[in-house]
Amino acid sequence: MSDKKIYKVLVVGVGKRGKHHVIAFQNNPRFVVAGIADVNPEQLAKAASELGVSRSSVDVLGLAKEIRPDVFCFCTPPSDRLNLILAGIASGAKLLAYEKPMALSMNEAMEIRTAAQRAGVKTVVSHQHRYGQHYVKVKEIIDSRALGRIHTIHAHAGGWFLHLFTHLIDYMRWYNGNSPAEWVMAQAAGRGKLADNHPSPDYIGGFIQFANGVRGIIECGGGAPDVPEVDYWWRKNRICVYGTEGFAEVLTGGGWRAVTSKQIGVSSGPGCMNYDLDMAPYVEDMARWLDDGKCVHPSDGESAYHGFEITMAMLRSVVERGQIRLPLAAGEPEIAALRRVLPEKAVLLSSEVHSKEYPGGITMTPQMLETVGT
Ligand SMILES: NC(=O)c1ccc[n+]([C@@H]2O[C@H](COP(=O)([O-])OP(=O)(O)OC[C@H]3O[C@@H](n4cnc5c(N)ncnc54)[C@H](O)[C@@H]3O)[C@@H](O)[C@H]2O)c1
Repeated sequence: MSDKKIYKVLVVGVGKRGKHHVIAFQNNPRFVVAGIADVNPEQLAKAASELGVSRSSVDVLGLAKEIRPDVFCFCTPPSDRLNLILAGIASGAKLLAYEKPMALSMNEAMEIRTAAQRAGVKTVVSHQHRYGQHYVKVKEIIDSRALGRIHTIHAHAGGWFLHLFTHLIDYMRWYNGNSPAEWVMAQAAGRGKLADNHPSPDYIGGFIQFANGVRGIIECGGGAPDVPEVDYWWRKNRICVYGTEGFAEVLTGGGWRAVTSKQIGVSSGPGCMNYDLDMAPYVEDMARWLDDGKCVHPSDGESAYHGFEITMAMLRSVVERGQIRLPLAAGEPEIAALRRVLPEKAVLLSSEVHSKEYPGGITMTPQMLETVGT
């Protein structure tokens, strides 16, 4: 029997993602789920019975103080990140694991980072797609240098900004060796998703100048290209890395593909985003980091912070216009500023496949091309 420490976990917010986390921790012998908490008593009772967890409460802080978890994990909607970070710190946990996006504004992200650093706790943000075999394969191709000098990375998703942008940027930064961003510039359209609990423009597209000279191009929402090779709408995401000797791309729901001049030729392989497969190594890496402080988790809070900074810089560019230099200082909360400036004009959709999720959006028809746009 292993003499390795078993880490106690409290999972807060047991909806879709909270349950994924509970199951992943339960399936890993290095963790024991000591309790679950949720502000919704019906949801809590249902999850406790489904997951076989005996200790549960609607009083998050009370349960956290009783359990004194090693890992304080929360999977709640994005509206309350800072308070839950502070609750996790107060519980005495060594590691706080939480869902993306890390905050709803740059000011909040800064407060989260400072609070965690002061308390000396580790933080992990759930950008777990990177564990997919197809994501890993593209990283291997990049590292093999088969693409030559990499100059451009283009990432896009039909899903809206605060759902998917931080995923895309996390993997773009990973594929680009985590080179820092120097500036970004962006534009946005459509107010429909500002009312969502992941408040977003309906479409945003922008550029990133990375310090190593690589150009990032990133788009999220109804104006982003379709990925017809993928059926499931939320997985119609693509990250393509271009170099002087070819390109390699990952499709979240459709494997990987590479075309290079020499080493690989034309090649492709399988892979599809899969919570069950991705969550196992994601939590295993938490045990590794808790065991050994040098084994920093690939989705650590510091990396999420840099991705979030690019995310919020995009919104600042929409509001202030022009290029935004990084790093960012505190400023006007970005979503509120966006609400102030975004015009009441419908988003123009790139494809009919986006019309269900953007019901106010306009799908272009051949007849429209003959009339003057407004
Ligand atoms: N990493 C991924 O691949 C991925 C996928 C989907 C969703 N997410 C993210 O996960 C988060 C949660 O999404 P979900 O789909 O699980 O939502 P959900 O609505 O299914 O579950 C959220 C749960 O949190 C509870 N809750 C809300 N506020 C709370 C609070 N202050 N304290 C305790 N419980 C609280 C709710 O009652 C609910 O049960 C979001 O931030 C979302 O962006 C991540």
